[in-house]
Amino acid sequence: MATYQEFIQQNEDRDGVRCSWNLWPSSRLEATRLVVPVSCLYTPLKERPDLPPVQYEPILCSRANCKAVLNPLCQVDFRAKIWACNFCFQRNSFPPSYAGISEVNQPAELMPQFSTIEYIVQRGPPTPLIFLYVVDTCLEEEDLQALKESLQMSLSLLPPNALVGLITFGRMIQVHELSCEGIAKSYVFRGTKELTAKQIQEMLGLMKPATSGQQGKPLAPHDAAASCIFLQPVQAVDMNLTDILGELQRDPWPVPQGKRPLRSTGIALSIAIGLLEGTFPNTGARVMLFTGGPPTQGPGMVVGDELKTPIRSWHDIQKDNARHLKKATKYYEALANRAAVNGHSVDIYACALDQTGLLEMKCLSNLTGGHIVMGDSFNTSLFKQTFQRVFSKDYNGEFRMAFGGTLEVKTSRELKISGAIGPCVSLNTKGPCVSDNEMGVGGTCQWKICSLTPATTLALYFEVVNQHNAPIPQGGRGAIQFVTQYQHSNTQRRIRVTTIARNWADAQSQIQHIESSFDQEASAVLMARLGVFRAESEEGPDVLRWLDRQLIRLCQKFGQFNKDDSNSFRLSESLSLYPQFMFHLRRSPFLQVFNNSPDESSYYRHHFVCQDLTQSLIMIQPILYSYSFYGPPEPVLLDSSSILPDRILLMDTFFQLVIFHGETIAQWRKAGYQEMAEYENFKQLLQAPLDDAQEILQTRFPMPRYIDTEHGGSQARFLLSKVNPSQTHNNLYAWVRNMIFFKCIIKYKYIYNNFIHYI
Ligand SMILES: *[C@@H]1O[C@H](CO)[C@@H](O)[C@H](O)[C@H]1NC(C)=O
Ligand SMILES: *[C@@H]1O[C@H](CO)[C@@H](O)[C@H](O)[C@H]1NC(C)=O
Ligand SMILES: *[C@@H]1O[C@H](CO)[C@@H](O)[C@H](O)[C@H]1NC(C)=O
Ligand SMILES: [Zn+2]
Repeated sequence: MATYQEFIQQNEDRDGVRCSWNLWPSSRLEATRLVVPVSCLYTPLKERPDLPPVQYEPILCSRANCKAVLNPLCQVDFRAKIWACNFCFQRNSFPPSYAGISEVNQPAELMPQFSTIEYIVQRGPPTPLIFLYVVDTCLEEEDLQALKESLQMSLSLLPPNALVGLITFGRMIQVHELSCEGIAKSYVFRGTKELTAKQIQEMLGLMKPATSGQQGKPLAPHDAAASCIFLQPVQAVDMNLTDILGELQRDPWPVPQGKRPLRSTGIALSIAIGLLEGTFPNTGARVMLFTGGPPTQGPGMVVGDELKTPIRSWHDIQKDNARHLKKATKYYEALANRAAVNGHSVDIYACALDQTGLLEMKCLSNLTGGHIVMGDSFNTSLFKQTFQRVFSKDYNGEFRMAFGGTLEVKTSRELKISGAIGPCVSLNTKGPCVSDNEMGVGGTCQWKICSLTPATTLALYFEVVNQHNAPIPQGGRGAIQFVTQYQHSNTQRRIRVTTIARNWADAQSQIQHIESSFDQEASAVLMARLGVFRAESEEGPDVLRWLDRQLIRLCQKFGQFNKDDSNSFRLSESLSLYPQFMFHLRRSPFLQVFNNSPDESSYYRHHFVCQDLTQSLIMIQPILYSYSFYGPPEPVLLDSSSILPDRILLMDTFFQLVIFHGETIAQWRKAGYQEMAEYENFKQLLQAPLDDAQEILQTRFPMPRYIDTEHGGSQARFLLSKVNPSQTHNNLYAWVRNMIFFKCIIKYKYIYNNFIHYI
């Protein structure tokens, strides 16, 4: 039999699924005792070059409240042409087009290798992709210049039939008319007055003109879209749009000494969202906001224009001293929900040295599956390459972006769905498989994901509802089906269906089997997402205590130790790395906010709840590689003892890529040994981490901050803050106090010693 390692890998490759447990405890009571819930990470659009889509409709179970899709787990009677649903046991007859099926002539969806399958379906006329640029003009000249070039470049990357639009804003907002003839016109809005969707549509001419005694009515979306001069096919207007972009000037309003520019981000976004709402509801569209500073006037303002009033910090927020926070957040949340209802997503590209209000605006991206990119300036390769990568293509030459997704989850009757954590919103679909016990965004079996990439990954949590006294027959399996409907970047409608099953196990007699089925990497990420989700509404220390309590309970359940010897504490191989992940998670920027600005914390958390398992693990526990003359590069402990004079270190935290030269290496480099023919091997040693870093940079989205530093260098703090021993110990002592608080001191001692052993 394959090892669990192999089993886990095969399932991830085929289905894009990683489960916390790969044998499921057969009763509710046993499941709660396992601490880590039955849950999984699911990557709906995982790239599968080996999975050509089929060109027909999926077959659905005929029971009205089931509608599960025919899959390899269904029992089929080929002679009677009947299949039994594996979720509700309904017997269904095949449609006439399946008359020819037999044991030797099976449709793809019945074959075990198609537990994940993708259907191309016909749903209405294809609609083009839509990109609406919303550009801040209160930028420094250098930033504006660089941004204009990036935007012009992007026009050549869009599909030729995509629709584009342009809104620019500073103190006022301009919606640019795009037509192929005449003089460039634009509609101007004030940035201070809140406008309803209807007012915006009226002012943009998307309404029927008012007749006597009757108010103007909105045009039907189809007519509005056809007559909309603000969204045009890129192939028709790219020359003109290139010109308009080329001529963009900085906001002309003078900014007095001691003031911030007046930036009407809130109204600019509400116009963008209102425009799409009136013209292309339920069609894939991206609003792309490019901003270089915080909103400073009108609805959604984050800070006033007086420079002497700084933008809110974590301390202000803690002391309830952030004047605009609640109001602004509420404003952007309302906009985000409107965009989500229509399947439109919002990206935020925020480049500035100071904060730009991501904390208040992040829900725009987090609820709509949009990207958030944060950099110091638009004139950096971090921004330029990241932005270019938004338009990257897959092995088929198609964009790695999909729109208007919905994910529906179905479960066999022993399981219910508690919730999801990821870039999604609830569709409030009740059903027999929805649990009352919410984890993450719950109370539903369907979520909307307005925009997806092949890396977009959701965490899904389940509740075992089977009662202890109702044993599941030997050999029984639990099943989950994921049905993702979406608009492919080539405008086709597609449905991807993944059906998974795991064996039930009795936690009393088979606890060791269950233990060895534990996927510690997936579990670390799944528990971390729960922690980060809590951190959005609870106090930091409470979240840490909650995580600690879960870890202690898990260690109590599975740790082996001899009561008289604290050094004897052991965890089996399948759990041995788990405490270490939790240790690093506690110190991570996702849970420790005070070393970062509120914007940075929002940025880190946003990416943490969207990325796949591999990237998430790097975020929890950064990777450190050491390069030396003594052998090939090797992974080393994330500890200050790994910093040696004759080593080069490469650290990958996902957000940063740090190359650190030890003291001796730095001296040699300064002395220029790498230039001398007889020190060719030194030159190679210097080059090796650069090459490896390049490889990481090739695929990472967003581009990490790239830092080349050395012993004593000012940028060395990026490395030291991750390996600093004094910090490690401080945190460990804090941990001790927590444990006393929980009266777990005895057990804690074992685990503590175990930690010492790891660190
Ligand atoms: C952007 O930065 C580069 C390198 O730092 C510089 O040479 C260039 O002039 C900058 N671009 C603008 C528009 O200032
Ligand atoms: C658009 O481009 C055409 C041809 O290059 C030009 O004649 C026309 O004036 C331009 N329109 C605008 C609005 O710039
Ligand atoms: C996403 O936004 C919603 C609403 O603001 C919030 O409840 C949720 O915690 C956010 N998630 C993250 C990871 O920021
Ligand atoms: Zn069914």
